Amino acid sequence: MADSERFSYEGLFSKNSTVVAPGAALRPKYDFAVAYPDPETLPLDGLASSLKNALDRDGKDLAYYPNSAGLPSLRRLVAEKLGRDRNMTVGEDDVVLTSGSGEAIGMLIQALTDPGDVVLTEEFFYLGTMRQMRRFGTDVVGVKCDYEGIIPQELEATLERQAGLGKKVKYLYTIPCFQNPLGWTMTLERRKQVLEITRRHGIPVFEDDCYVDLRFEGEDVTSFHSLDDTGSVIYVGSFSKILAPGMRMGYMVAPPEVIQRAMSFKAGGGVNQFAALAIEEYLKDNMYQHIEEENRALVVKRDAMIASLGENFGSAATWLVPQGGLYVWVEMPEGTDLAAFQEQSFREGVGFYNGTMFSPEGRGANLARLCFGHPPAETVYEGVAEWARILDRNGLLRG
Ligand SMILES: Cc1ncc(COP(=O)(O)O)c(C=O)c1O
Repeated sequence: MADSERFSYEGLFSKNSTVVAPGAALRPKYDFAVAYPDPETLPLDGLASSLKNALDRDGKDLAYYPNSAGLPSLRRLVAEKLGRDRNMTVGEDDVVLTSGSGEAIGMLIQALTDPGDVVLTEEFFYLGTMRQMRRFGTDVVGVKCDYEGIIPQELEATLERQAGLGKKVKYLYTIPCFQNPLGWTMTLERRKQVLEITRRHGIPVFEDDCYVDLRFEGEDVTSFHSLDDTGSVIYVGSFSKILAPGMRMGYMVAPPEVIQRAMSFKAGGGVNQFAALAIEEYLKDNMYQHIEEENRALVVKRDAMIASLGENFGSAATWLVPQGGLYVWVEMPEGTDLAAFQEQSFREGVGFYNGTMFSPEGRGANLARLCFGHPPAETVYEGVAEWARILDRNGLLRG
């Protein structure tokens, strides 16, 4: 069809809409940019036979539109898991299933903020959440952290600064376990201090716990939710990291008044019942055995990344060895511009995301997040060595 015959949407788009570029076409040989889990331990046979069992039993229910909060038996399984693993006292009615935790995060952002409202976050945090906050016009302010988590004095000072500006802070968003991208887990002491401050200032904590199950070593730290008996903690979790992002299944746990508001932003009526049936049927008997198997694969990849960083970067960079999760956060000397170099690194075969992408203020050009979850361990090892060679060739490896 000739261009002149094409229909024009000029003048028809809403003011809210923005242009989203199609997914990245560039797939580097060594891809450490996106946080995919291990593909080899995906329980494909288990999921297929679980789906078959569930369909034999409940398949005719697919003729109905699903429950808008999601499959009740999967919500019950989530509530029981959170009771066992996160010390949370919740029932199935406190849980809403969503299309990945990303949908839950978007619903909560819309329920809690108007354009121009201020929200607080860790100084570097998951860019998917930052994008959604920005999309709904939220003013995002980062709070300084150290290896134990959010620094309480910094949180207090930030809240006072915002109050001085006449701004109401709507919530504190935190990723307290295997923080994305920083890699640490917030200590119990810090969680208590943070909660004392947020409660005193009358703001809720928005706890994003999607990596909690990917622990390779060390002790679990209890959830913010379990430390609060006032309803001031909103919790989101995901099946993306313990099963697969392709399943698109996550959840929120919140007081009824928050759920009722958030539900007004739920699109599409419930979640995919096919995925929910397969997940429930599979995980009710296999959850912990599967998580253990996945973590056994992931820790080998983490160790390969750490070994290769040690051998190829020496004193040219520093990094935290995470006790779980999917990332290593690498710090190069001040002045190293990894932001300007990122695209070229992709083109030369190694994908990574630089720190500025995770900072509300756009800081951190000398920082990088490297994800070790998806490639095999040998490829992780080789890829880090290749990254060092590329950086060196481009004059960015000093030390
Ligand atoms: C901290 C954090 N929260 C939420 C998500 C969204 O995950 P999903 O929508 O697949 O559940 C991610 C994905 O990487 C993440 O890192």
